Amino acid sequence: MEYITVALAKGRLAEMTTDLLEKAGLDVHELREKSRKLVFTDEKNKFKFILVKASDVPTYVEYGAADIGVVGKDTLLEAGKDLYEMINLGFGTCRMAVAGPKELEGKLDSIHNMRVATKYTEIAKNYYHLVKKQSVEIIKLHGSVELAPIVGLSEVIVDIVESGKTLKENGLVVLEEVCDLSARFVVNRVSMKMESKRILALVAKIKELLAKE
Ligand code: PRP
Repeated sequence: MEYITVALAKGRLAEMTTDLLEKAGLDVHELREKSRKLVFTDEKNKFKFILVKASDVPTYVEYGAADIGVVGKDTLLEAGKDLYEMINLGFGTCRMAVAGPKELEGKLDSIHNMRVATKYTEIAKNYYHLVKKQSVEIIKLHGSVELAPIVGLSEVIVDIVESGKTLKENGLVVLEEVCDLSARFVVNRVSMKMESKRILALVAKIKELLAKE
C-alpha cells in the first residue's frame, strides 16, 4: 500500500489538524513530539505527514507531493490553485477585512486611487477589481501590515482580523468585510482518483466527527 501524504500548515493550524487526525483514527504521536523534523509517518495506516509553511501547502498539493492539505481559506484564495476543497473544518476561523483609521468610515468609495497595503494581493485585487469595481493601487507587504496606514504608506489595509486586538492596539478599525475564513481540507485532483477509497473514508470520518461537535 502506498503512503497517503498530508501537508500540514506549520503552527497553530498544524496543532489543531493533528488533534483532528488523531480523532479520525490516525497515529499522530510522532507529530506531537517537539522536534525539528518535517516528515512523520503512521506506519500502520500508511500515512505520511509533512510540515510546510502555510502559504506553500497549496503548492505541495497541486503538484501531488502531498495528496491532502489542511490550510486556511485565505491561503487557498491567494494561491488560486486547482484543488478539490472537500471540507470546511470550522477551526481557524477569522475574517478578511478592509481596515484603516476611523476617520475613513463611510468615505472609502470617494478616495481616488486609494492605496491598499496587504499580504494578500490576489484577494485584494479580486475584491476591488471584480467585486467593488473600484480602481485602487495595491501595495504588497510581507507582515506588520497594520503599520502602513499609520505611517502613510497606504490609506487602508486588507488583512486578517481574528480577535481585533492588533487593529485596536494600532488605532485602526474594520471598514469593510471581505469574507469569512477558516481551515479547509483540500485534495490533489489525481490523488482523488487514484486513492479515492482511502481519502473518501477519511473525509467521511472527519465529517462525522464535525457533525458531532
Ligand atoms: C495576523 C494578521 C493580523 C493579526 C490579526 O497576523 O495579519 O496582524 O493576525 O489577529 P488579531 O485580530 O487577533 O489581532 P499573523 O499573526 O498571522 O502574522 P503576520 O505578522 O505575518 O501578519
